[in-house]
Amino acid sequence: MRFLTLLGALIGALSSIMYLLDSHLDKFYIFTPSELQSLAQAAVEAHGNDTTSVVQYIVSNLSAKYLHHVNLEEEWIFNNAGGAMGAMYIIHASVTEYLIIFGTAIGTEGHTGRHTADDYFHILRGEQLAYAPGKGVYEPERYPQGTVHHLKRGDVKQYKMESGCFALEYARGWIPPMLIFGYADTFSSTLDFPTLWRTTWVTGREMLENLAMGKL
Ligand SMILES: *[C@@H]1O[C@H](CO)[C@@H](O)[C@H](O)[C@H]1NC(C)=O
Ligand SMILES: *[C@@H]1O[C@H](CO)[C@@H](O)[C@H](O)[C@H]1NC(C)=O
Repeated sequence: MRFLTLLGALIGALSSIMYLLDSHLDKFYIFTPSELQSLAQAAVEAHGNDTTSVVQYIVSNLSAKYLHHVNLEEEWIFNNAGGAMGAMYIIHASVTEYLIIFGTAIGTEGHTGRHTADDYFHILRGEQLAYAPGKGVYEPERYPQGTVHHLKRGDVKQYKMESGCFALEYARGWIPPMLIFGYADTFSSTLDFPTLWRTTWVTGREMLENLAMGKL
């Protein structure tokens, strides 16, 4: 009984802290959607479908500005979530933001997940299709190279990359709850524990390094 009371108090306290912080989340962000959008577009303009150079352009530009908040090592890791499969390179991960290159050379399709963060998906190569059910909606949303698909916090869609497609994905909000979605497919489907371990290692390392620099 006493344990339950304590647990209740703890959950209550944590929820109030999260609620309080929630209205001030924007104080913790270092990246801005408009800056990332112009950077992604400038990179595609400069290097077209030479995606290696597009990614290098983006990362070196960001690292000049954000120094140690940017991971310069291209540690590509498989990512299975919502039934879709691709790979990612984690450029930045903290409690309130992440920035990754996500994509696949062969296409994929799945559920976006319902997240506690806003998601900005800047298409660097190829095209992404999206669908949200609604009255009179029979055509897909199309996001070609150079455009950005903004999935608002709490919204869900079905999405597809018909063939090869890579994007600069930026999420801002509460990142830790998103990791549950990012991990679920490992337990229900892939059982790829080395990938799970590597994802945890790189994400955890980046989050802790940012925390150590005072970046929530
Ligand atoms: C980064 O890219 C922006 C355009 O998005 C440009 O204005 C800026 O000069 C670039 N900075 C560096 C260091 O490359
Ligand atoms: C990249 O390749 C696609 C498909 O071949 C083409 O439609 C597109 O215009 C190319 N983009 C650039 C910036 O060259």
